[in-house]
Amino acid sequence: AERVFSGVQPTGNLHLGNYLGAIKRFVELQNSHECIYCVVDLHAITVWQDPEELKRHTREVTAAFIACGIDPKAHIVFNQSQVSGHAELAWIFNCVARMGWLNRMTQFKEKAGKDRENVSVGLFAYPTLMAADILLYRATHVPVGEDQKQHLELTRDIAQKFNTDFAPSIAAYGHGEGYFPLTEPLIAGPATRVMSLRDGAKKMSKSDASDFSRINLTDDADAIAGKVRKAKTDPEPLPSEEEGLKGRPEAENLVGIYAALSDSSKAQVLKDFGGGQFSAFKAALVDLAVAKLGPIGADMQRLMNDVSAIDAILADGAARARALADQTIRDVKDIVGMVRA
Ligand code: TYM
Repeated sequence: AERVFSGVQPTGNLHLGNYLGAIKRFVELQNSHECIYCVVDLHAITVWQDPEELKRHTREVTAAFIACGIDPKAHIVFNQSQVSGHAELAWIFNCVARMGWLNRMTQFKEKAGKDRENVSVGLFAYPTLMAADILLYRATHVPVGEDQKQHLELTRDIAQKFNTDFAPSIAAYGHGEGYFPLTEPLIAGPATRVMSLRDGAKKMSKSDASDFSRINLTDDADAIAGKVRKAKTDPEPLPSEEEGLKGRPEAENLVGIYAALSDSSKAQVLKDFGGGQFSAFKAALVDLAVAKLGPIGADMQRLMNDVSAIDAILADGAARARALADQTIRDVKDIVGMVRA
């Protein structure tokens, strides 16, 4: 059976990249798949998080999921730390993955920078926890932005090595060829890598010092309009075909955003706006972004006013996730050779 899993870190400043690259796709997959969407608080603490802020951001991501259209009754929405199987399976995967594999992770290299001696052990082990998130539910498909591609390749490597290392035991317990599926990433559409509005060479990110680099899901109409108008562009008018976007990262980014927000394609957007001035295109983009994001921001605020309702959704989701996770943990303990009741 096909099952979707994905996660978002509760580290604040949820932005248009998170929406177009991930959450909007989460919403679409609900019609065709059984979906599990997780607020990954254990991942968040790989870098320092203020405790009160962590709670607020965990509820905020939950509110964003619901405001964007995820149905927590038909599917599962929960925060990672409420299901202990994530940490348990991550430990086992720490013993399956090789140092060399993790040493190659570009996200770790970027986040650790020069000060390798002073980052948490958790930041290095981040990708094994991510593999555990996915494989705990034996998920077959994972919608993410482009930046997570390498982590999903590692997840497949871990599944493959586990299946091979324990092949006799897996067969003895009646699981056939392999216990874990080789999960497929779902990275598609015109906005798999939304770039900063200030610099077409940098991705839009929660941690960029400039708030003008990103459109936050909580931005109001004035903020959205201001940021789009100030967005960096070049002096040329828009081309009529995609070829013409080559070497113009800022223009390509805005066209991609327009295409994703309007459920269209870059080619179609250029058919409609090609040859025209940037200012006219930007004005249309403001209208579109405000129409699409305005209601989401308003709904998030409304939901955040009732913290206990959000916590009840997370508790209910965690209970249902735990039921699935517990079965995997029992199987894995048997396969690995751990005595259990
Ligand atoms: P996180 O919290 O950084 O981002 C959440 C999702 O948003 C996508 N994304 C983007 N997409 C397009 N353009 C951008 N500029 C952009 N920035 C972020 C990310 O690709 C992601 O899909 N490691 C993950 C969280 C995670 C996870 C998992 C994901 C933990 N366990 C299991 C999938 C499956 C992360 O840091 O996402």
